[in-house]
Amino acid sequence: MASANGERGSWNSKMGFILAAAGSAVGLGNIWGFPTQVADNGGAAFILIYLVCCIAVGFPVMIAELAIGRNTQKNPVGAFRALSNGNPLVPLIGYWGVLCGLMILSFYLVIAGWTLGFALEGILNHLGFEALAGTLTDLGNGTKNAVFTLIFMLFTILIITGGVSRGIERATKTMMPMLLVILLLLIGFIFTQEGATEGLAVYVKPDFSTMNGSLVVSALGQAFFSLSLGMGALITYGSYLNRKQNLVESAAYVTAFDIAIAVIAGLMIIPAMYVAQKGGVAIFDPETGALFSSTTLVFDVLPQMFDSLGGFIGLILGFIFFILLGLAALTSSISLLEVPVSYVIDEFSIRRKTAAWGVGGIVSIIAVIISYDLSLIDLFVAIFNEVGLPLGGLMISLFLGYFWKTERAMLEIQEGNPSFPGSTGGKVWVIFIRYICPVLIAIVLVNTLLIVL
Ligand code: PFF
Repeated sequence: MASANGERGSWNSKMGFILAAAGSAVGLGNIWGFPTQVADNGGAAFILIYLVCCIAVGFPVMIAELAIGRNTQKNPVGAFRALSNGNPLVPLIGYWGVLCGLMILSFYLVIAGWTLGFALEGILNHLGFEALAGTLTDLGNGTKNAVFTLIFMLFTILIITGGVSRGIERATKTMMPMLLVILLLLIGFIFTQEGATEGLAVYVKPDFSTMNGSLVVSALGQAFFSLSLGMGALITYGSYLNRKQNLVESAAYVTAFDIAIAVIAGLMIIPAMYVAQKGGVAIFDPETGALFSSTTLVFDVLPQMFDSLGGFIGLILGFIFFILLGLAALTSSISLLEVPVSYVIDEFSIRRKTAAWGVGGIVSIIAVIISYDLSLIDLFVAIFNEVGLPLGGLMISLFLGYFWKTERAMLEIQEGNPSFPGSTGGKVWVIFIRYICPVLIAIVLVNTLLIVL
């Protein structure tokens, strides 16, 4: 049924797939989430734990997701059903993924929408429209939030309706190189400014005194979110792959690229905070003494920093920074929408266009509600991101290790990588997916629940 309606599609090239998957991975999680978490959690100590989470847990789970997707050529629900041997519980893993996709997308769009308002702020101020600029950057303005959220959703839907190769692949192939150039340009500029090296020192100096259970919870949650794992985004992207592609190599590229962009983004943002401080901007929370993080950092400290640079250069840099954030968010939001859309296309034989507008419409309603009540973001992050994605990852590794079995997964992975099953890497992967990943994720999940409850 899946391809009977001819709406599934496939990637055009190896590079196209890798960029699309990397585009899904690189998003607000890297440019906003990662530097913020580093600032919050003891600098380089967090980076080290994060690297361990990405390599020891994220990378093996990513291979698993790609193998499940390519083997079944289906959306997450269809994929688990196809491999379920009639067990009705197994497809629940896919349903959970689709639900997480819908919910994460709905708050992701609101934050992504903010980037558009902030991109326009400097220009509007420059042209003398201060009041309008103030409205566009007022995070508490529900109607404004809703309008930008819907604009962002519109971009996302339009790309998805283009299909896999003509929509997603083409869009990410153009946007990802732009994103990289902008990021490097911004770093280059920040490091010409006073205060940047002080920020760099804070970024690279680990403070292990802050190491505790909650840091590890944050690092694993961040790794799952940043690598787009646990909800079947990579099962879906893997389902559009042909059997010539080397899944292990692709997963390695995507993981490495995602880590690199996060680390580079931190290299820009933390020094930028200290540049802001030299420009007279407060960067430490007076109550806790810690660096400002999260929303305050990205949508308050940084705009003030661009302002403090003054004149045309501040305006241009502010504009391109928020465009960078917007582009990164867009290449991720399309993958978040593609998961439920592929489910609807496969399972109900609905045309891609109808599916994209229908699912997009439903998500838009939730996103508009969040636009007016931002406290829901924290709630959604806790349920669907901090618990939901690692839980999805746990179920995926247990499913692959004990139900589908690594031997069968290996038959899939060896297509495009014949030497993997007999290699050390192959043996290590089996150990990780069967024992290390489930145990680590379970420990972290228990910790998460203890913190949340
Ligand atoms: N990886 C994206 C980011 O770092 O912003 C967010 C994301 C996209 C999470 C797709 C999950 C997903 F399936």
